[in-house]
Amino acid sequence: MQFASKLPDVGTTIFTIMSRRAVEEGALNIGQGFPDYPIDPALSDSLLEVIAEGRNQYAPMEGAVELREQICSKLQTCYGRRFDPMSEVTVTCGATESLYDAIQAVVGPGDEAVIFDPAYDVYEPAIRLAGARCVRIPLEPPAFRFDWDRFEAVLSARTRLVIINSPQNPSCSVISAEDLDALAARIRDRPISVLSDEVYEHVLFDGARHQSVLSHEELRARSYAVFSFGKTLHATGWRVGYCVAPADMTRELRRVHQFNTFSIASPLQFGIARYLTKHPDAWHGLAGFFQAKRDLLAGLLRGSGLEPVTARGTYFLLVDYGALSHESDMDFADRLIREAKVATIPLSPFYAEPPRMTLVRLCTAKHDATLRTAAQRLREFARRR
Ligand SMILES: Cc1ncc(COP(=O)(O)O)c(C=O)c1O
Repeated sequence: MQFASKLPDVGTTIFTIMSRRAVEEGALNIGQGFPDYPIDPALSDSLLEVIAEGRNQYAPMEGAVELREQICSKLQTCYGRRFDPMSEVTVTCGATESLYDAIQAVVGPGDEAVIFDPAYDVYEPAIRLAGARCVRIPLEPPAFRFDWDRFEAVLSARTRLVIINSPQNPSCSVISAEDLDALAARIRDRPISVLSDEVYEHVLFDGARHQSVLSHEELRARSYAVFSFGKTLHATGWRVGYCVAPADMTRELRRVHQFNTFSIASPLQFGIARYLTKHPDAWHGLAGFFQAKRDLLAGLLRGSGLEPVTARGTYFLLVDYGALSHESDMDFADRLIREAKVATIPLSPFYAEPPRMTLVRLCTAKHDATLRTAAQRLREFARRR
């Protein structure tokens, strides 16, 4: 049968490739972004309780009311505004589903969506599946600063969506209040929505505060803001995320969501809701927790030839191997797997047209012992070169 692929140039994600290579070579995987330590036992207890109590049938399409109410309390604490759980919050299968649904809701054939490279890998395929064109603007390492004039220059009569991500994976940079103002000014008189990927909202370092579109009066009125309990509760495998948007935009997102996943695993939603009732400040220590891990790993690597680039947020750390090699990041990352027995993630797959750079990404959401072992292997590798 003749079968035309809708995404002919999309291969296996770099995360799967590197994790597979890590298994083949028996390497320590500190590339892919998932914790290797357990979740809070109180969270597992909440899940087991709600299962035993029979919360095992379909949850409401929009999300369990108890969970949406907890989410609204959390949003009020964090962003100073009361959102309506009934009309402005939707629970989805991870942040990934929120991103997909929002993109399908906003863009279609003939439309354009703007994203910034290095970009998290789910945005472009979802834009193309909607039939729209993805316009990618590269941000230059090591600062990865926005150039809003360049952004304005790519806007056209077809532009319908811009996607931002802060704290940003994989650059570990964060957006500033001035950036949000600049974005708002550039799209003010245009029919452009914002999709704001804020899954690392609680992981900013050195005292910085997260700049959410939800705290920005003008942007909030045209934004989908996307969050993930996977990141906030160290439970990436639970796949529970949510999207916050004005009622009219939420209505359109739900039109996609109800025919995509319909509703999210009931016990997980009720389990998280119960846990948040008992631990309403569950995310409070996250920034300090990950800052300590960033500082541990960066401190162990500094001076080794694999130089840490200061991470402003996320649970990742970029290291620059330029002092050791000028190989491509794909080749160098594969060498690290083979020779150092450490799996990392190269940065170039996050760009449409990668700039010259010698950076790989490490994940700090690991036991301190894992980070120490990885650092020791990397230092020994660097010494041998
Ligand atoms: C920037 C970014 N957005 C979205 C996601 C997806 O979140 P979830 O696992 O909740 O689908 C991730 C996960 O790594 C991410 O790094």
